[in-house]
Amino acid sequence: MTEFDLRGFRILPEYLAPACQADLVSALRDVVAQAPLFSPVTPSGKTMSVRMTSAGRYGWVSDRSGYRYSGAHPAGQPWPDIPAAVLRIWRDLVSDRRDPDCCLLNYYGEGARMGLHQDRDEADFSWPVLSISLGDEGLLRIGNTARGGATASHWLRSGDVVVMGGAARLAYHGVDRIRFGSSTLLPKGGRINLTCRVVD
Ligand code: SIN
Ligand code: FE2
Repeated sequence: MTEFDLRGFRILPEYLAPACQADLVSALRDVVAQAPLFSPVTPSGKTMSVRMTSAGRYGWVSDRSGYRYSGAHPAGQPWPDIPAAVLRIWRDLVSDRRDPDCCLLNYYGEGARMGLHQDRDEADFSWPVLSISLGDEGLLRIGNTARGGATASHWLRSGDVVVMGGAARLAYHGVDRIRFGSSTLLPKGGRINLTCRVVD
């Protein structure tokens, strides 16, 4: 399918062929073996329904003291390297001048969701955020650069890639729900979303 624009988000459906999706999942198994998924707690003390880990120089973490990037997994070890297959997508769609510092891995199990938020813990918003979806379908909602107002929704499927850049770099976005079991890519079901960011 050809790419299209939704409220400034560049959406590339089926960017990754099924064989590439499977290769990516096997690379991510190594990431999760070195940096296990954890359940972040928001500054207000709520446990997020999405489980997370990261690869790269920095990983995104959250706890009672706030949202931030950290050079180490909460268990203390450095984050694993970003898989080469992920870097290839970044270089193809974003830039071959600079690689991302962080590849955040979000895992949505049955019932997991992510509320509307902005990605604004990075130093330079001129760099887009690259998002890669794998596994079950997820309903992405895109809002505005300020809270409130109209939103648009779109089901992201396995292999779809989104570039959040330009004026939409600071748009509110979230995932309202997933269709658990809609894909056979992950043996236990669920959805993986990778977001690559330049951090500093
Ligand atoms: C995120 O905003 O970090 C995740 C978006 C998604 O899961 O598609
Ligand atoms: Fe986000």
